[in-house]
Amino acid sequence: MASEELQPIQGMADLAPPEINLWQRIERSSRLIFERYGFGEIRTPILEKASVFIRSLGDTTDVVQKEMYLFEDRGGRKVAVRPEGTASVIRYVALKGQDAQAARLYYIGPMFRCERPQAGRKRQFHQIGAESIGGDCAAADAEMIAMQVHLLREIGLRDFKINVNTRGLPEDRVAVTTGLRQALEPHIPQLCDDCRRRIDTNILRVLDCKNDGCKAIARTLPTVTSFMSESSRNYLDEVLRLLKLLEIDVNVNPMLIRGLDYYVHTVWEITHPALGSQDALAGGGRYRITISDRTVEGVGFAMGVERLIMAVQQDDPSAAKGDAKNMVWLVSFGQAAFEENLKLMQALRFRGVRCGMDLSGRGMKAQMRAADRSGATAAVIRGDTELNDGTFQLKDMVDGVQVTVAMPELLERLTSKLTIS
Ligand code: HAM
Repeated sequence: MASEELQPIQGMADLAPPEINLWQRIERSSRLIFERYGFGEIRTPILEKASVFIRSLGDTTDVVQKEMYLFEDRGGRKVAVRPEGTASVIRYVALKGQDAQAARLYYIGPMFRCERPQAGRKRQFHQIGAESIGGDCAAADAEMIAMQVHLLREIGLRDFKINVNTRGLPEDRVAVTTGLRQALEPHIPQLCDDCRRRIDTNILRVLDCKNDGCKAIARTLPTVTSFMSESSRNYLDEVLRLLKLLEIDVNVNPMLIRGLDYYVHTVWEITHPALGSQDALAGGGRYRITISDRTVEGVGFAMGVERLIMAVQQDDPSAAKGDAKNMVWLVSFGQAAFEENLKLMQALRFRGVRCGMDLSGRGMKAQMRAADRSGATAAVIRGDTELNDGTFQLKDMVDGVQVTVAMPELLERLTSKLTIS
């Protein structure tokens, strides 16, 4: 067992080869799809003024109240390590004003929430997200969900479910809050402590409480949409109609609330059975965020990469292995061959061949072991005889077949398919 000092902080992990190959593949697929839909990348700072998150996410949300890494910097300014990506993107859009109207931005990077770590729940986790800035129209929400489904399929996922609901508009809130409060009144003594508090602070959250008793009560309540205006209900119907037109199956879940306060109209969550109790693979929705007197509206989503990986491993184990990469290992018998191989290694790399060699001057056996460890698919072996003849021993590391070749053939084989026999 390695010393405690060498372990990363609880809930945070090192990401290194070989697992990183799958991460990189997911990131590549995401960039490809985002670009096809006209999204460009944004990289915002990981540290922001705390107010950026407190105002946008809502000061009674769990993320702000319990999970955000919040501290004063050396100058006494309140700062927060970003718990999600939307608020920072909106700060950027508000800062740019007119120049960022109709911006379509995506982000890939680490987020931080001080939650109790468990499978699929980390303190440093990674999101791939996208935000489409602009006016409220159901087609934009449907397009966003369609892009997300496209992306999940591209990554190799099949067995996911999309739950959709509406949060209505701020104008609906009084009616929704009053209606829910009346319906909950007789059940208050049976609610958990958190939910009794939520009745006054954030009543909608009672609907997605994880406590079994609260869940049972929530199931008996009228749906939130029943308290909303007709136009809010029509907006959701239009999103659903367009999704049907695009042949995307969704489940309307009237209990879906989402834990952040900035949402208006459409909200959705994507779940996957590989994830157990933390089954949300991704979440998204339309939002309206006011920051420094500017109100920005948009629609977006974010997917947790750690959870995507758990899901891919179940749905498509071969894709989960990552791309097999061809690699050539150069093996030298004697000092002269070693120096010639050093030159050859650079020449091959300039031509785009992945290659390596043992640099410490060890014997043949150790060099062949290093070749195996590197996962090389081919070895090029040279000693004095080959140097004199101007030839190379080319060995297929998979089936062991070895052939003698001259330089033109070596280059041809290594730079074409890298199959030797
Ligand atoms: P969220 O639902 O809080 O939404 O997070 C989105 C996804 O991030 C979750 O579905 C989950 O996959 C992943 N995630 C969240 N917390 C953790 C954690 N502690 N460990 C591992 N994965 C986690 C948002 O963050 C919104 N900004 C999404 C959005 C974008 N809405 C509109 N635009």
